[in-house]
Amino acid sequence: MITRKDFPEAFLFGAATSAYQIEGHGFGGAGPTIWDTFAAQPGRVVNGETGAIACDHYHRYEADLDLLKGLDAYRFSTSWARVMPDGRTVNQAGLDYYDRLVDATLARGLKPFLTLYHWDMPAALGALGGWENRDVARWFGDYTDAVMDRIGDRMASTATINEPWCVSWLSHFLGHHAPGKQDITAGARAVHHVLLAHGEAMERLRARGQKNLGIVLNFEASQPATPQDTPAIARFDAIMNRMFIEPLTKGRYPELVLEGLDAHLPENWQDDMARISAPLDWLGVNYYTRQTITEAPGPWPRYTMRKTDAPKTQMGWDIYPEGLGETLKMLRQDYTADLPLFVTENGMAWDDSPQDGVIDDPARSDYLFSHLAQIQSAIAGGANIQGYFYWSLLDNFEWAFGYEKRFGMIHVDFETQERTPKNSFHAFKSWLSA
Ligand code: FCB
Repeated sequence: MITRKDFPEAFLFGAATSAYQIEGHGFGGAGPTIWDTFAAQPGRVVNGETGAIACDHYHRYEADLDLLKGLDAYRFSTSWARVMPDGRTVNQAGLDYYDRLVDATLARGLKPFLTLYHWDMPAALGALGGWENRDVARWFGDYTDAVMDRIGDRMASTATINEPWCVSWLSHFLGHHAPGKQDITAGARAVHHVLLAHGEAMERLRARGQKNLGIVLNFEASQPATPQDTPAIARFDAIMNRMFIEPLTKGRYPELVLEGLDAHLPENWQDDMARISAPLDWLGVNYYTRQTITEAPGPWPRYTMRKTDAPKTQMGWDIYPEGLGETLKMLRQDYTADLPLFVTENGMAWDDSPQDGVIDDPARSDYLFSHLAQIQSAIAGGANIQGYFYWSLLDNFEWAFGYEKRFGMIHVDFETQERTPKNSFHAFKSWLSA
């Protein structure tokens, strides 16, 4: 088994969370988000659950951050709707909270890795068309400035947006996340406007002199169900894995994306590509699983997923650590060359429940160390990977799955808010200090 010493000394190990999933949006003057609107529609979120209380991290952040002592970094997000409850007016109590949170992070020797958008758009902006409205770039820019005015002086690293694919495609074309649309034009517009909002935020951040700026993308490995499914897999790969990194690094959409989206992108989208492809300081890579793809009849993009009998997590996601190695290799070869990469999310859900106060989750430890081994071997092969964040610190509000799926290294009892570190967390910490 690999050890901490097999990684470069400066390599950062951390854990990741996001605001809406843990804070408790009912507290501190936060405004309603597009997830509150979505959860109020029947059948959208398991049991109609929301982030109203979540892990009550808003009140418990000091104790939660204590759990992280011994790690190097903490990836968290600020909530747009907490900072700007109506999408425009700044809630000072929201900024006060992030100010305290950042100081508490630093006080524990953890480097703050900020993500500005992890899906909590104010409902008021959603009502104006949200990501489909081109003005979202300016709205997001204003929010970026409001956050950085207050905490920008203490960030080790700042990401604009978490998982543009989920923000746009999963939410406006596939319909699984807020706002739950299934419309190719909405999907195409959201794709482009998320990138534009990133571009605008980067300009504002650069103008302020902020350092270490990046974006976090999600990737999935893939395999064709049969050799005949190779064309389908190319379309899947273009949409899933290249639709954002290609504009960001090369200023163009992949051909296989334009095949379906050209007719639906906003007019004169080409004029935005220079802003969208302004240089990044680093790229965040989120990786969880592999898909098995097969051709499907019907309109573009004409593919669907097949279930396999591979080992699975509580989400039903295939466990395939090699896919992380494949992703890191693809990125380096095709897009990022020597740009620093951080694995900003990786982890698994399991149906954990305490037995006599102990949560034994060997499957999670295996998942963690097998993925770390992939990173280590990529680094040994010359890849510039500088950190790893486990998703997630705490069991939390897992979006459309509500509180059912447990990704945490720390178990949360949502009745009592009791925290219990799982055995995988003990294993991670002793591995780090060995
Ligand atoms: C990612 C999200 C994160 C969490 C994990 C399981 O797509 O960024 O909030 O839901 O998946």
